[in-house]
Amino acid sequence: MDIHTNIPLKNFTTMKLGGNARFMTEVHTPEEVVAVYRNAKAQSLPVFILGGGSNVIAKDEGFAGIVIRMRILGFEIIADDLNSTTIRIGAGENWDETVKRTVDMHLSGIEALSAIPGTAGASPVQNVGAYGQEIADTLESLVAYDTENDTFVTLQKADCGFSYRHSIFRGNQTGRYIITSITLTLSKTNPQPPFYKALQAYFDEHSIGIFTQDIVRKAVIDIRTNKLPDPDVFPNTGSFFKNAIVEDWQLDDLRSINPDIPIYDMGDGHFKVPTGWLIEQTGLKGKVLHGIKIHDKNALVLINESAASYRDLADARDEIIGAVRDKFKIQIEQEPLEI
Ligand code: EPU
Repeated sequence: MDIHTNIPLKNFTTMKLGGNARFMTEVHTPEEVVAVYRNAKAQSLPVFILGGGSNVIAKDEGFAGIVIRMRILGFEIIADDLNSTTIRIGAGENWDETVKRTVDMHLSGIEALSAIPGTAGASPVQNVGAYGQEIADTLESLVAYDTENDTFVTLQKADCGFSYRHSIFRGNQTGRYIITSITLTLSKTNPQPPFYKALQAYFDEHSIGIFTQDIVRKAVIDIRTNKLPDPDVFPNTGSFFKNAIVEDWQLDDLRSINPDIPIYDMGDGHFKVPTGWLIEQTGLKGKVLHGIKIHDKNALVLINESAASYRDLADARDEIIGAVRDKFKIQIEQEPLEI
């Protein structure tokens, strides 16, 4: 196993910013995870697990520890019956290739999560979601190295504390578990309406009335290609902010600011307000702040056009957060993690 020194994190994160990792290595097996972790611990080095780097922002000071690039592969059917197939997927598998393989097998459950950059092992961390599906819907369990007890554990879905764009892995257990595989149970039934609004609009526009996994995948890829900039060409991390969650006592106030405000009832006393809409209302959509462009097709996305540093990004982020707070009294939150 090679350990590399002073590696620029900007080459390993899609925002293309930030300083150096003191050390970096790749792991290809669960045993290598344990070996690297124990070594790092013996030397009191902090550890950070990196998948595709598409949801991680690196700071200018870099990382004074060891970054482990997760490369464990595997795609194994572990159960199959009339209605469903259960598959175990190595944490280092490319997420979209995983989705494609399941779609080619005519399995439903993650087809709407097509074209999301990153790795399979990262998907539970932020409970990846798009177009009406989230990983929490199909994740059965996952295997992780528990760094606290120096052992591998199987965590069931209920153990993961999933909610909108959240899990224990970025909450109160941050840094404790190194996910090595995820197990999904996917359905053999074709996708069924009702579909996410933007997806249904696409089907209507293209007169599509028969739904297969492949048709949904192609529609999602088409919608995403139009709305989300390709990170290989325009450095970005997808949605830079989470959508805002508000409570019912805030609704009247918000409607008095703009009666057209889109509000989605989450059914649990909370309401989701699209942050892209909030940012657009501040007039910042399409503008460039500190070299960071607020994407003109989707204000939730920030593109690194010419930022020199993480600091530029943080300044732009804080100005956007401030503008939304001034207009709507809502505190929006950054979505990507930071190293
Ligand atoms: N909207 C605006 N202006 C904008 C952007 C959005 O008015 O600039 C409005 C739209 O018109 C729509 C509403 O906001 O009424 C919601 O927009 P959309 O359906 O495009 O989804 P989103 O809330 O912007 C979320 C996810 C995306 C995911 C889409 C589709 C988050 C943080 N983002 O975006 O995830 O693809 O839904 O399900 O929840 C990602 O996490 O990187 C990501 C792309």
